[in-house]
Amino acid sequence: MIHQFLPPDWKLSEHLKRAYEHSKTVANAARIIANRVSTLDEEVAYTFGIMHDVGKFYLPEAEKYKHPRVGYELLRDKYPNVALICLTHPFPDFGAYEHILHYHHNDESEAKKVFELLSQVKKTIYMELIQFCDKISRVNDYIPWEKKLNWYLKTYGLDPNEMTKQYSVHLQKIKQKLDDMTGEDVYKLLKIQP
Ligand SMILES: [Fe+2]
Repeated sequence: MIHQFLPPDWKLSEHLKRAYEHSKTVANAARIIANRVSTLDEEVAYTFGIMHDVGKFYLPEAEKYKHPRVGYELLRDKYPNVALICLTHPFPDFGAYEHILHYHHNDESEAKKVFELLSQVKKTIYMELIQFCDKISRVNDYIPWEKKLNWYLKTYGLDPNEMTKQYSVHLQKIKQKLDDMTGEDVYKLLKIQP
């Protein structure tokens, strides 16, 4: 599905090639987890995973933080459910404005738009599935989300704060939910070393 939405020259850019690989990694994790849950459809999960970052392909690298909204706007008329995955995937804590603002590099106008859109969204398990799979996926492999968060804090020279604590609580809850739904530790299912 994703190829019909990619601009023809996307392969010229290294960061988009990485984004594409990362999307496949997310999609594979989502499919493996969904395969274990009778109420989830694995092909839907895969499609959501492969499409979640599509907005990145329509932005210069410096503005890629706008990709949740851009992906949402690209797909909302034809594929509203996929559009909502694009919009919600970076925000396991949903309405938390502080996190939304931080995610958008303190671009208040963009953060307000996203905050407004998110306030209308009804959370689904597929949204949580993709949030989780995104947080454990690097380009071609998986790591526990706790490690990815620590890597992020280190890379950007940040200290853990109330925001990252809240964010962690939400991710932990999602993982617990997925463990319960699959009947096993999803890290084991995906062969992730703790
Ligand atoms: Fe993303």
